[in-house]
Amino acid sequence: MTDHIYAAEHPETTHVRPGGFTLWFTGLSGSGKTTIAHLVGPELDRRGLVVEYLDGDNVRMHLSKGLGFSKEDRDTHIERVGWVASRLTRQGGAVITAAISPYAETRQQARDWVEPVGTFVEVYVKASVDECARRDVKGLYEKAFKGEIKEFTGVSDPYEEPTNPELVVDTEEHSAEECAALVFAKLEELGLVPAEVAA
Ligand code: ADX
Repeated sequence: MTDHIYAAEHPETTHVRPGGFTLWFTGLSGSGKTTIAHLVGPELDRRGLVVEYLDGDNVRMHLSKGLGFSKEDRDTHIERVGWVASRLTRQGGAVITAAISPYAETRQQARDWVEPVGTFVEVYVKASVDECARRDVKGLYEKAFKGEIKEFTGVSDPYEEPTNPELVVDTEEHSAEECAALVFAKLEELGLVPAEVAA
């Protein structure tokens, strides 16, 4: 039992299954992270990878239940996502995260956990606040502009744009399908996608 706990806390003592990666989508609420994630995931699955999604909204219902949107709570939440992603990556999984993850330092923390055991692919899903507010899929921007929701990312709370992501996809310029194709091409370029098996 103690050995197990020790191994979990000391990844260097544990076997790393090759091929694992974390595909880390970051961007404003409504930028298209989840949509693109769910276009890329099934194709990875089809190629035989073990795919797991860690979507901010879902993780907040379970692992991060009770956390809010202060900097401290967001950091705790994103660290949890990053830590779980690193564990699954270590087991050779294809992990797809979709959380705003507004703070560069916390995204770097996630990268630092993943990179010793696999590949970290940060994708900035780019769309302006104006465009996300125009889409306002969940009706939250309208409330944020009225001040009914405090600390809303891009409106009354910061979003630190990635300075050196592996990929930027602009969802104002491209459709979700086009963005998913760009992401898939990047994964192929990085050698993370097994070749298609002929039928
Ligand atoms: S993160 O900042 O902690 O990474 P996460 O991606 O998990 O955020 O959750 C963001 C989602 O929570 C948004 O898409 C939106 O639906 C909802 N939400 C509720 N309040 C806020 C807020 N103050 N700022 C941003 N998103 C919020």
